[in-house]
Amino acid sequence: MPTPFATYLVTGGAGFIGTNFIRHTLALRPQWRIICLDALTYAGNAANLDDLPARFPERYRFVHGSILDTKLLLKILTQEDIAGVIHFAAESHVDRSIHKPQTFIATNVNGTCQLLQVCQAVWEQNGKPDDFRFLHVSTDEVYGALGDTGYFTEQSAYAPNSPYSASKAASDHFVRAWHHTYGFPAVVTNCSNNYGPYQFPEKLIPLMIMNIQEKRALPVYGDGANIRDWLYVIDHCEALLTVLEKGAPGETYLIGGGAEKRNIEIVHLLCDLLDRLLARSGSRDLIRFVTDRPGHDYRYAIDAAKIHQQLGWQPRHRFEDAIEATVQWYLGHMDWVETIRSGEYRQWIETNYNLRDSK
Ligand code: NAD
Ligand code: DAU
Repeated sequence: MPTPFATYLVTGGAGFIGTNFIRHTLALRPQWRIICLDALTYAGNAANLDDLPARFPERYRFVHGSILDTKLLLKILTQEDIAGVIHFAAESHVDRSIHKPQTFIATNVNGTCQLLQVCQAVWEQNGKPDDFRFLHVSTDEVYGALGDTGYFTEQSAYAPNSPYSASKAASDHFVRAWHHTYGFPAVVTNCSNNYGPYQFPEKLIPLMIMNIQEKRALPVYGDGANIRDWLYVIDHCEALLTVLEKGAPGETYLIGGGAEKRNIEIVHLLCDLLDRLLARSGSRDLIRFVTDRPGHDYRYAIDAAKIHQQLGWQPRHRFEDAIEATVQWYLGHMDWVETIRSGEYRQWIETNYNLRDSK
């Protein structure tokens, strides 16, 4: 019997953005059914989604597996009538890519290519349906670093500076080539730094929240003057839905939050916010300026005029409100944080921070 739902495959759905995307979309789009495919690396957490089978028995399924497993991909794509693929699966942390680039090449480049090949084959077998979409979720880091002025646009030249951004740039190029060569209906989005619930506490904002809460040192790379353009993860998820539903195949859309902040501003803001929420003082005294990240990009900032004007998407959340909601979420989910901080996490913290001198 035909299902009343449109089924989407979400890769990397047990990570930070994927979890928010699945949870938000199941609530927002009652006609969607989602299959989450995730290899559950250190960054993927099945518990993020473990209430969903009971809440959405007909609309959600989890498959534990890798985008590098062609047989598994083929099985899912031929057994299920897939309306589209939202591709989040990746190694996502710049510092880790500096220590161990190989896994970034394997997952981000080879994994994306495997996925493209299987999706293309099944799309062709199915008669190249017009409405099929492959949404490749990428990063603004592919454009390198900005100085104090200017913005990235869809016309900016690719200039990746880290092994992570180089691997994402390579994957963007393969997606572009699949559209150009085979007419495969792929769309690429490149977005700025996300923040919000379920982010792995290796990234700046959750790491600082946890360290402030536990009165540990706050390691700020270099002089803390680097700038990022912060995007609330729910705004990002809504932008991705907009691109899937209204974006044109072969196009790229940049997604930004319009909230540029220096890293030190973020750390100060989090110290003051947590001092207020925990009724204490002095968190700024925990700040330590440490050896910079090699090749550290100075500034990222996005001109999101194309998605604003052509697709009508705008971020709905003010930075000040969403960052407070994020802090409240972490404080209310210390059990979640504890499950994440396995032996692997402690080993990573040692690898990344013990070698950095205080400046
Ligand atoms: P994340 O590291 O939190 O999650 C990645 C997920 O991918 C994890 O669940 C992991 O288990 C899964 N995964 C890794 N290798 C896999 C494989 N071989 N097969 C299947 N699953 C695999 O990442 P995130 O922050 O949620 O980022 C999601 C995507 O968005 C990534 O492609 C990233 O490059 C991109 N992006 C992230 C940001 C950001 O600020 N976090 C900004 C721009 C773009
Ligand atoms: O721009 C989008 C990118 O944003 C995504 O593609 C990446 O997947 C995501 O990890 C993020 O990359 P960044 O390198 O910008 O994020 P991170 O949270 O690692 O660092 C943010 C800034 O904070 C950066 O300038 C480095 C700095 N930093 C980071 C850490 C972890 C510190 O000063 N101290 C730290 O301990």
